[in-house]
Amino acid sequence: MSTAIEFIKAKASMEATEELSLVDVLRARESGVDFCTAAGMFASALEHFESKGHNLYRRMLLEPSDAEALVDYPREAGERRMIILASNNYLGLASHPKVIEAACQAARMYGAGSGSSPLLVGTFPTTRKLETKLANFKGTEEACVFATGYSANVGVISAVCGKNDVVILDRLSHASMVDGAKLSGAQIKVFRHNDVEHLDRVLRRNRDASTRLVAVEGIYSMDGDIARLDEILEVVRKHDALLLVDEAHSTGVLGEGGRGAAAHFGVDGQIDLHVGTLSKALGACGGFVAGKSDLVTYIRYFARSGMFSTAPSPMVTAAAAAAIEVIEEEPWRVERLWDNCRFMHSELKRMGFTISEAPSPIIPVIVGSMPILRQMTLELHQANICVNSVPFPAVPHGSERLRISLTANHTREQLVEALRCLERAAYNAGLCRHKAVA
Ligand SMILES: Cc1ncc(COP(=O)(O)O)c(C=O)c1O
Repeated sequence: MSTAIEFIKAKASMEATEELSLVDVLRARESGVDFCTAAGMFASALEHFESKGHNLYRRMLLEPSDAEALVDYPREAGERRMIILASNNYLGLASHPKVIEAACQAARMYGAGSGSSPLLVGTFPTTRKLETKLANFKGTEEACVFATGYSANVGVISAVCGKNDVVILDRLSHASMVDGAKLSGAQIKVFRHNDVEHLDRVLRRNRDASTRLVAVEGIYSMDGDIARLDEILEVVRKHDALLLVDEAHSTGVLGEGGRGAAAHFGVDGQIDLHVGTLSKALGACGGFVAGKSDLVTYIRYFARSGMFSTAPSPMVTAAAAAAIEVIEEEPWRVERLWDNCRFMHSELKRMGFTISEAPSPIIPVIVGSMPILRQMTLELHQANICVNSVPFPAVPHGSERLRISLTANHTREQLVEALRCLERAAYNAGLCRHKAVA
C-alpha cells in the first residue's frame, strides 16, 4: 500500500507528470490507494497537463460532429476550425435536415423526455415506429430500443445468460460486452481475435453449459477489421450455441444499403441477436437489439438496463427512424463513405504507415509508443486535425495508435490536407523516414 502511494506520488511529481497515465491511477487503486488520495493525485496531474495544453480529452464541439467543425478547447484562447477524423457520424446524418425535423416534430408532439422506463409508460409511437424500421432494416422479426448501445449490450447479455451459462467473447470485444458478461454471473471465456478454429475449441470445451452465447462485433471498434461472420456462424450452429453480433460500427456501413455485417456476408435472418447503436451511422443516440420475436420479447421484459432506466427520448427515436429512411433514400452516402475509406487506406499505406489490412471507416494508425502518440496528437491538434489517440490500456502496449474515423461528408481536399499533416507529424515524431512537403 505505501509503495503504491509512493509510486503514484512519484508519478504525479512535476518532473514525472508527463509519464502519468490513467492506467497508473487504476493500478494504484488496485494496489490499495484509497479513492480520495488517487483522485487528488489525478487532479493535480490533470491540472499540470492542462496548463501545458496537453490534455486533448473533452474537446468541446460548437457545431455538429461532422467532417469539419468549430472546436473549443478550454485552455486555448479562441476556437479552432478543425478537420474531424474522430466522429462516428459515418453517414453525416446527425445534422441531416430530415433527421433534425423529425426530432423537432417529436419534441413538439411528445416532449423532450420520455418520463418513464420503456416497460412502464415510456414507449411512444416514435419508439414502435423505430423498432419496426430496425427489424425490417436488419431482416429480423422484432427489435427493442435501449437508451444507449452500451446499455443494450449490458442488458441483453445479462438477460440471456446467468450462472449456468457461458459467454464466449472475442478477445477484442467492446467493454460493454465484457461488462454485460460480468453482470450476467455466467462464466466468461475468450477466444483469440477472429480465430474461428479457436472458437470451435472453446465451444467444444464448454459443451455442458445450459446456454452458450458467442459475442462478436461486425466491425471492431479499435482495429476496424470485420468479423469472419459466415465462418463464425457455421461453428456456432455446429455447436448449437447462440450468436450475438454487435453491429455498432457496421450498421449503416457494411452490406447492401448499409444493412450491416449479416447482409455483407449474406447471412441475414440467421443471426440470433443483433445489438447496435443509434449513435453512430444513425446520427442520434441510443441502442437496440434485433432478432426473433420470442428472444427480443424476453429481453424487453428481463434486461435490467432497459427496465430500470428511462426510455430513450421521443426526439431520439424519431430522429433514428428518419435516419433509416434517409439511408434508404440516399444510397450514395454509403458509397461515398467507402470511396473515402478506400482513398484514405491506400494513401496511408503508400506513405508507409502501419495500418489495418483492409479499408474500413475505422483506420488504426499504429505508432507503437506513448511519447510518439502524444507528440503526433498534439502536432495534429496544432494543425487543426482532430484525431483520437488510443493509448494503453485501451489497446495492448506497442500498439498505441491514432484512430482515424471517416465519414461520407469528408471531401477529398479535407482528406488530402489531413494526410499531409499526418505525414509531417510522423516525420517530426521520428516515425517516418520521408519528410512530407510542408
Ligand atoms: C462496439 C461497440 N459497441 C457498443 C458501443 C456503445 O454504444 P453507445 O455509444 O451507443 O453507448 C460502442 C461505442 O460506443 C462500440 O464501439
